[in-house]
Amino acid sequence: MNVLELNNLDAYYGDRKILYGINMSIKKNAITAIIGPSGCGKSTLLLGLNSMLEEYGGRTEGQILFKGKELSSYQKEEIRRQIGIVFQKPSPFPLSIYKNLTYAPIYYGIKDKGKLKEIVETKLNVAGLYEEVKHNLHASALKLSGGQQQRLCIARALTVEPEVLLLDEPCSALDIKNTANIEQMLKKLAQDYTIVIVTHNLAQAKRISNYTAFLLDGQLIEYDTTAKVFSAPNDRRTKEYIEGIYG
Ligand SMILES: Nc1ncnc2c1ncn2[C@@H]1O[C@H](COP(=O)(O)OP(=O)(O)OP(=O)(O)O)[C@@H](O)[C@H]1O
Ligand SMILES: [Mg+2]
Repeated sequence: MNVLELNNLDAYYGDRKILYGINMSIKKNAITAIIGPSGCGKSTLLLGLNSMLEEYGGRTEGQILFKGKELSSYQKEEIRRQIGIVFQKPSPFPLSIYKNLTYAPIYYGIKDKGKLKEIVETKLNVAGLYEEVKHNLHASALKLSGGQQQRLCIARALTVEPEVLLLDEPCSALDIKNTANIEQMLKKLAQDYTIVIVTHNLAQAKRISNYTAFLLDGQLIEYDTTAKVFSAPNDRRTKEYIEGIYG
């Protein structure tokens, strides 16, 4: 089943066209990687997928269907809840680890202390962070390392039970060990969530994704299973990118 479906999607910042007629269906419970050179429109596409592009001064034209219904017909708040996003630079709230994770559930009306505690523990566990922080839940999240902060942000995004998790280069500031932790976690998460990850790291896309989309100058050049894209791409430009000919 397709969770998100893009039909002839264009994106603009002002008069400048960034994405050109993107047609793409995002499969449920799969990891979809978006790859392509810097400036090709990967982040713009990701921001379009949860209607955040307007906040960055952009807009889309064309159709985005979320679970078969026009994305624009959903309330903004509902979109934010169901389609979470995590950025390159981890951005914990300047609050305790615990409060980072209870912030959204409390906002959505959960008051029961036991239930909140359970959410904190479950989501930290899923993000592979619980063991490292279980004795310091009330310490500031800002004291965590970069990799821990990123796992915290992923855990936080999961506290509202989203359907889709969008990640924009979540590992680019992390070392190999933290990257491996996050990759392992994402693979597990794909059993319950639909994941779209923008990555510069081709080896990462190859390791963790089921589908890969290659964008070049705002156009979707190729979109197929990761195995196919990396072993036998249809388009010469995909092949050249994968072989390292473009930046
Ligand atoms: N808020 C903005 N306002 C105007 N133009 C923008 C804005 N954000 C991005 N752009 C432009 O849109 C184009 C696509 O940018 P985008 O950030 O989507 O690329 P990207 O593929 O994510 O690149 P990178 O790999 O460097 O993150 C670029 O030319 C960029 O300069
Ligand atoms: Mg980007």
